[in-house]
Amino acid sequence: MYNRLFIGVKRINLVEADSTNAFMKELVSVSDSEVEGLVIVAENQLKGRGQQGNTWESEPRKNLTLSIFLKPNTFIQNQFLISKVVSLGIVDFLMDKGLKNVKIKWPNDIYVGSRKIAGILIENLLKGNKVNSSIVGIGLNVNQSKFKSDNSPTSLINIIGEEQNLEESLNQLLFFIEKNYILLKQQKEVGVNNAYLKYLYGLEEDLPFELDEKKVQGKITGVSALGKLQVLINNELKEFNLKEIKFLIN
Ligand code: BTN
Repeated sequence: MYNRLFIGVKRINLVEADSTNAFMKELVSVSDSEVEGLVIVAENQLKGRGQQGNTWESEPRKNLTLSIFLKPNTFIQNQFLISKVVSLGIVDFLMDKGLKNVKIKWPNDIYVGSRKIAGILIENLLKGNKVNSSIVGIGLNVNQSKFKSDNSPTSLINIIGEEQNLEESLNQLLFFIEKNYILLKQQKEVGVNNAYLKYLYGLEEDLPFELDEKKVQGKITGVSALGKLQVLINNELKEFNLKEIKFLIN
């Protein structure tokens, strides 16, 4: 069970790091031959980075904070597929733990009900028309029960009610990420896209958004290959980047 072919077969465990993504970036910039699937895990992350310049809150030795080095060889215009397969891996992991109502909130958040349990920060290195390598940072709340952040995140312990073994959880998480990432390698895009839509938060629901500092109602219909959110507003289908649209619900 939970055996893996390459993700996490080579692993670096750090007692402390500013950011596992930054550490990985530094490492691969000096050694070009790093193997695909290398995982860096930090017990304590001092300057965890989140999306849009945010910080990532995580108590030392309570959660999973890690980065995975991938060589997806994806065309630039399909790069959001990396986010899709990683999100699906986290969803599969959480459902394997028995969680219900697990959703992917575009673009890179994993929710249980209306609360965030995990976040993904992907940094791609492009070469020509392809993604040469990708650093996939994941923060997953496991055994932390109280949070300072004002968006009231949740964790496995808050949902399941008992402490989880971090090492076991890491191995399970990596197993499910690899399983989904292999679909990308095998170019099974249709299957990936269908699974992604199945778990996409707010799909086909009438939701409030902030657009150009105004409140609008819209219906999410999907996410483009480039990762733009597709929303039906006043019967017109529009695509948005992260900075262009904001959810007005948690
Ligand atoms: C987000 O939801 O804003 C993304 C959070 C990503 C956090 C992880 S923790 C491990 C890796 N290293 C970082 O500095 N950030 C990511």
